[in-house]
Order: sequence, then structure tokens, then C-alpha cells
Amino acid sequence: MSTQSNQASYTTLLTDLQDGILTVTINRPDKLNALNAAVLADLEAVVSYAETADDVKAIILTGSGEKAFVAGADIAEFNGLTPAQAERLAQRGQNIFARIENSAKPFVAAVNGFALGGGCELAMACHFRTASEGARFGQPEVNLGLIPGYGGTQRLTRLVGKGKSMELNLTGEMMGAEDAKAWGLVNHVFPATDLLDATRKLVGKMTNKAPLALARVISCVNDAAMADAEGYNKEAARFGELFETEDMKEGVGAFLEKRKPTFSGR
Ligand code: COA
Repeated sequence: MSTQSNQASYTTLLTDLQDGILTVTINRPDKLNALNAAVLADLEAVVSYAETADDVKAIILTGSGEKAFVAGADIAEFNGLTPAQAERLAQRGQNIFARIENSAKPFVAAVNGFALGGGCELAMACHFRTASEGARFGQPEVNLGLIPGYGGTQRLTRLVGKGKSMELNLTGEMMGAEDAKAWGLVNHVFPATDLLDATRKLVGKMTNKAPLALARVISCVNDAAMADAEGYNKEAARFGELFETEDMKEGVGAFLEKRKPTFSGR
């Protein structure tokens, strides 16, 4: 059975509830599903809905269109932020992503294209990830004179280890789905046309399990991965302070003006 669940409440998400699996599609394809304030608010609302709706047993997050899961935080919204505002933005994103990570119900990211910056961070906040063959992962914030702000320095390090996390975060390069699988960033790679069905099949293995047991698996595995609140606070503060730098203004300005940035180290 398929129903539109709570659809009226969202402006940037599509939702579909089938057999206990809530599929949430981030729906700004013209901006490659970038996370602006409206998407963050909708994500917060859908997490609240999923947590309390008895007929939702598990959640799949994906992106609309063929190109992107989420191409990052919305860079246009960075323009003109003070360091304090940027730190608060990072904390807001971190809080929503922490609610996903700590949800009592399984969240799985079905990464259907670019998962960059905040998109990679959103996928990593989910309990595990599948990807289409053409999916691309990366933390390209250094190209903007920035660092990840929604937990990327923390979750990526715990998922793939320090050296690989350093490489992705320091080079800002993208990696393909098979490499991401080899690194442990995604569990399964499927052809694009099969991604959602195959992910639903996988998630369907959890929907008939005891909910209280699933909640405790999530909590205990999260503990084993040693979430460290101080690491996240530090990341948000370092993210914020970069908004004072000339390099950040150059990086964001260059992206918006569609040119290559030149960094000066100031
Ligand atoms: N924030 C805001 N807008 C974004 C965006 C983001 N993170 N990523 C893409 N967009 C917008 C583009 O500005 C463009 O909008 P426009 O058509 O109004 O000009 C639209 O989405 C399509 O993107 P475009 O860059 O034209 O597509 P492409 O195929 O040439 O390149 C990417 C795709 C993903 C390589 C490129 O969009 C990109 O580098 N995005 C930014 C990734 C990033 O740095 N993310 C981390 C942010 S902290």
C-alpha cells in the first residue's frame, strides 16, 4: 500500500509511505537539492513525523532528479553571514543530523548522484548508505575556503578512518561510488534504475523486526562509534570563524560568479 504521508507540511520534500518504509525525496533539482533553510526546516519536521508515526518503521532519504542526492549546503545562503551566524547555522544542521543519527528508527541514505559537502554529511548521519553507480561523494568545502560544518570532519573520520578522511577533506576531490564502497562509506552500489527498489528491499529486512530492539542497536552502535560532542562544537566554531577570512569570501564569490577562486591565505 502506498500513501502520501503528511505531504502537505513540506515545501521541499516529497514523501511516500509504502509497507512501513517512508521514502523522503529532497526536491530542489534545479539547485541539485542543496540544503537551504527551507530544506533544513522540512528535514526537521519529517524527522519529528517519522519518530512519532506508528506506521513508519524505517526511512529512506534520497534526492530528486538523476543528478544529485544533495550537492551541499546552499552556498548562496552563506553570502554575508557573520562568523556567529555561520556557527549557529552549523549548529542547526548538526542538531538536525544528530536527530537522524540518534533516531530510534533506521534511516538509510539512497545516494542517487552528487553527495557533496552537507549532502555527504547528511548521508553519513544516516545509519548506512546505498548508492547508484554514478554517485559521487566529497567534502569540497576547502574549495570555498571553508571546512565541513554539519559533522563531516567527525563522521567521515569515524566511518573511513583518519587518513582517508584527511584525504577527502584536504583535497576536496570527489570519489565515485565503487571507491566509496571500498572505503566503507557506502554498503552497496546498485544501477541507478534499481537504486530505490533495491534499497527498499534491503530496508524491508528491518521493518518487521522488533522496534525496541532496533532502537537499541542504533543506540549501542552509535556509542561504539564514540560520538564526541566536543568535536562537533569545535567544528562549528572553526566553520564560523572562517567566515571572517578573505579566502572564504573569495571562494564563495567565485562559486557564485562561476569562476575559479584564487586564495591568499588571509
Ligand atoms: N549551493 C547552492 N547552489 C548550488 C549548489 C550548492 N551547494 N550546488 C549546485 N548549485 C546550483 C548551481 O549554482 C546551479 O544553479 P544555477 O542553474 O541557478 O546557476 C545549479 O545548482 C546546477 O549546478 P551546476 O554547478 O550548474 O551543475 P554542474 O553539473 O556544472 O556542477 C557540481 C555540479 C556539483 C560539481 C557543482 O554544482 C558544484 O560544485 N556545487 C557545489 C558543491 C559544493 O561545494 N558543495 C559544498 C557546499 S558547502
